[in-house]
Amino acid sequence: MTILIALSGSLRRDSANTTLLRAACALAPAGVRIVLYEGVGQLPFFNPDSETDPPPIVRELRGLLSAADGVIVASPEYAHGVPGAFKNALDWLVGCAELGSKPVALINTSARALHAQAALADIVTTMGWNVIATASPVIAVANKGFDAARMVADAEVAGPLRAAIEALVLATRTECSP
Ligand SMILES: Cc1cc2nc3c(=O)[nH]c(=O)nc-3n(C[C@H](O)[C@H](O)[C@H](O)COP(=O)(O)O)c2cc1C
Repeated sequence: MTILIALSGSLRRDSANTTLLRAACALAPAGVRIVLYEGVGQLPFFNPDSETDPPPIVRELRGLLSAADGVIVASPEYAHGVPGAFKNALDWLVGCAELGSKPVALINTSARALHAQAALADIVTTMGWNVIATASPVIAVANKGFDAARMVADAEVAGPLRAAIEALVLATRTECSP
């Protein structure tokens, strides 16, 4: 079984990014399980003093990711940047050597949000993760109000989302990722 952890950069209840990741969970092919991590908003502020002995919620997140084969990220852009709560979550993961070279799909839900997408690619690459370009499409669902069922039923959403998942899964299985 291939395990992928989905991380949303938005805490908003009706977030398009989180909804897209819920659709991804529903579209997981046979032999693949996609788990949406929902604790980003509960993480304490990152403090390097606690990096080596972090609180249980951080240990749980690190454990989830460490046991996973890959990561799917979808995040909004705030003022041309990565949302603070999500950057905070990533900061807790910077020092985790066991997460190095984790294949990651960066799905952008808005064609306008180029700054945050570029920043995210830079951040996770600096963390040692491996951004899979073929698994990182723009799927423009931001501000459309689609629920997950509508995304799954919409070929223009489900098609590229399914292809991104397949590209990520392929990258988890090949030594030399694209
Ligand atoms: C405080 C704030 C700042 C934003 N700044 C930008 C921005 O710089 N560029 C952009 O394309 N969208 C910006 N947006 C729009 C959000 O990225 C957009 O609404 C996105 O769909 C929200 O994602 P969500 O539905 O997953 O919460 C901003 C939204 C908020 C609330």
